[in-house]
Amino acid sequence: MLNSTSTMRYHIIAAACASLAQASLQASLPGALGPLKFSKDGTFQISIFEDLHFGENAWDTWGPEQDRKSVTVLNKILDSESPDLVVLNGDLITGENGFQENATVYIDQITAPLIERGLSWASTYGNHDHSFNLSAEQLLARERRWPNARTTQMVFGRDAGVSNYYLPVYGSGMRWPWSAPRLILWFFDSRGGQYFQELDESGHDIPQPNWVDTSVVDWFRKTSSALTRRYGKTIPSLAFVHIPTNASLAAQTMVGIDENREPGINDDYALAQQAQGWCANGTNSNECAYGGQDGPFMRSLVETPGILGVFSGHDHGDTWCYKWDTQIPGMDIVGNGVNLCFGQHSGYGGYGHWIRGSRQVRISEGMLERGELKTWIRLESGDVVGSVGLNATYGEDLYPPTPNDKTYL
Ligand SMILES: *[C@@H]1O[C@H](CO)[C@@H](O)[C@H](O)[C@H]1NC(C)=O
Ligand SMILES: *[C@@H]1O[C@H](CO)[C@@H](O)[C@H](O)[C@H]1NC(C)=O
Ligand SMILES: *[C@@H]1O[C@H](CO)[C@@H](O)[C@H](O)[C@H]1NC(C)=O
Ligand SMILES: *[C@@H]1O[C@H](CO)[C@@H](O)[C@H](O)[C@H]1NC(C)=O
Ligand SMILES: *[C@@H]1O[C@H](CO)[C@@H](O)[C@H](O)[C@H]1NC(C)=O
Repeated sequence: MLNSTSTMRYHIIAAACASLAQASLQASLPGALGPLKFSKDGTFQISIFEDLHFGENAWDTWGPEQDRKSVTVLNKILDSESPDLVVLNGDLITGENGFQENATVYIDQITAPLIERGLSWASTYGNHDHSFNLSAEQLLARERRWPNARTTQMVFGRDAGVSNYYLPVYGSGMRWPWSAPRLILWFFDSRGGQYFQELDESGHDIPQPNWVDTSVVDWFRKTSSALTRRYGKTIPSLAFVHIPTNASLAAQTMVGIDENREPGINDDYALAQQAQGWCANGTNSNECAYGGQDGPFMRSLVETPGILGVFSGHDHGDTWCYKWDTQIPGMDIVGNGVNLCFGQHSGYGGYGHWIRGSRQVRISEGMLERGELKTWIRLESGDVVGSVGLNATYGEDLYPPTPNDKTYL
């Protein structure tokens, strides 16, 4: 038996070996992580995959078959697009179908197409990534076995969730770490699902709140102000969060989504938002449609200068972008022009037969100065739909409606 001194020595040596192994692994793989940078041509592209829902029905043939089809979606889309970063925007795995001993192994299937191409990725976790048998902490650890993973955790505590962090993106000619980033990417954990391995007195799972926690909002506001002070200017940014806020629901139901001005599928009507199914007093109950707890997060999104777009998944049947630039009837938080976007259901797991795809976001250093983005959805068929400019006239410009195609395989 080891005494405590030798145990500690053992831990120090083991930790040193692990970090050496990690360092040599990073050096040997094509995806070895330097900081994110704009390409030499001055552009930066993100491919967003969301609601992949791996690991459904592992006990029969249907489940693993869906996972194989989802891998095909990843491969097809990455054959057509060449992103500088992949974002996995929540519900990577259907945790309710998970077994405690292997609930996170699906990460290896999801990331294989990225690793083969030397791509790096950053995840947010969704409600299905938090479950009795699936721990978001273990999911992060599984991702971090690959040096291509940029997912990390910057806010700690039971209420914070896990995937809250930011990534700086530097200019193509940057001299890191001395240059200011050109773009900041914020990632938030909208939680939900159930607490890992916890049961109440009557043996039921314990639901976890499904909004971005105020501890994370405080961290976001402080960190964003600190970055502004440090670099002496507002750095433009994008935000990723699995569950959209109530502002998206308000836009959809109180203003309306126009198929020519906000092209996209709008089948999840009324959409599911943060704090849905919770009462204002913090009780989880079917009696309450919405508890309003996403208010502080929504407020921080409109009060933080420079956020060009907020990208969500969760509602598989909604794929539009809406420029929130007004006071929507009934809401006291006033939009500042931030674009609220859904992507496209990317996985064969999860509900719905809408054709699978992936939202692309492309930014050039010039567009950043004007606060503009370009975005489109690449479908598994190879087609591109919903290609729009998120610029000063988005919401007025006319586009062809997005076809509402389904895939039954
Ligand atoms: C996970 O474990 C379950 C139960 O032991 C098994 O049915 C399933 O095939 C495993 N999944 C993977 C991907 O290994
Ligand atoms: C959790 O995993 C255990 C061990 O594999 C399994 O027996 C159990 O059915 C799972 N529970 C749930 C709620 O999925
Ligand atoms: C949430 O959205 C509804 C519209 O669906 C709106 O009536 C309500 O005022 C909003 N509440 C908040 C707090 O944003
Ligand atoms: C919270 O509010 C709901 C709906 O108004 C109510 O049914 C429930 O009893 C309240 N719970 C507590 C602990 O106050
Ligand atoms: C915004 O982008 C659209 C589509 O590219 C374009 O037609 C429109 O002229 C642009 N508006 C501005 C103000 O640049």
